[in-house]
Amino acid sequence: MDTQVMNIIEQTANLEHANIPDETVGDVYVDRPRMTARNVNVFYGDKKAIDNVTLDIAEKQVISFIGPSGCGKSTFLRCLNRMNDTIDICRIEGEIAMDGKNIYAPDVDVVPLRARVGMVFQKPNPFPKSIYDNVAYGPRIHGIATNRAELDDIVESSLERAGLWNEVKDRLLQPGTGLSGGQQQRLCIARTIAVSPEVILMDEPCSALDPIATARIEELIAELSSEFTIVIVTHSMQQAARVSQRTAYFHLGKLVEVGDTEMVFTKPQHEMTNNYITGRFG
Ligand SMILES: Nc1ncnc2c1ncn2[C@@H]1O[C@H](COP(=O)(O)OP(=O)(O)O)[C@@H](O)[C@H]1O
Ligand SMILES: [Mg+2]
Repeated sequence: MDTQVMNIIEQTANLEHANIPDETVGDVYVDRPRMTARNVNVFYGDKKAIDNVTLDIAEKQVISFIGPSGCGKSTFLRCLNRMNDTIDICRIEGEIAMDGKNIYAPDVDVVPLRARVGMVFQKPNPFPKSIYDNVAYGPRIHGIATNRAELDDIVESSLERAGLWNEVKDRLLQPGTGLSGGQQQRLCIARTIAVSPEVILMDEPCSALDPIATARIEELIAELSSEFTIVIVTHSMQQAARVSQRTAYFHLGKLVEVGDTEMVFTKPQHEMTNNYITGRFG
């Protein structure tokens, strides 16, 4: 690319940066928060990836994180169950609390935290184990079931709630990796809910799936939201509009705007949100 074009792109990027509000537009606070993030900054080495984000995650609701690639959606999502701890150069400032307790406090054990705040990844990642053992894995390591019958019940009810029981009940001992992509993702959801989490984090859970499998997962998200608090990162605005009650729009590490999904998509308050949802960039 010639330098003139590069300069224009850079100037445009700087301009956009200059327009990002210091304060998030919309309602960052809710009446019944399940988790609260306050003035969160995240760095990878010297690079700031999340810039002063304050946000409540409402109980038993779905909130979507949207925004252009690289704006920090996954980074912020991973802060919510300390998954960023696994990245050496990653450093977090600010506070993220659950039930009024900072999850980054020195006495917090991340193993039970990640059971309370479970995660479903972009690419379905069943363990190389049977369908049964995939779902039984969490309850076993957390000592949730006291005997085999109890474990069987948890496996069955988790698969049922993940909408997979009827498809797999006759082949529970076959490998989870033998299922179709959409079934594997539902298996991963069953594995996550088997330990009775309070919050489920999903990072683009449908991006590796075909439209039919995607629709099935979206239905499932709606069903699960009566029982769990769900945070979903999606690059699909249609998906955000279909599955979430609240939407948060990120740009270059800042939370630009957050509000009721319908409002964000029909009457965005910030120009940048409007540009993004109308497809002007991203
Ligand atoms: N493990 C990492 N090491 C260094 N930089 C990272 C890492 N993960 C993400 N980043 C950087 O942080 C910024 C936000 O990335 P990410 O959270 O993955 O964005 P999104 O999910 O919105 O696409 C990007 O600039 C990305 O390059
Ligand atoms: Mg991402």
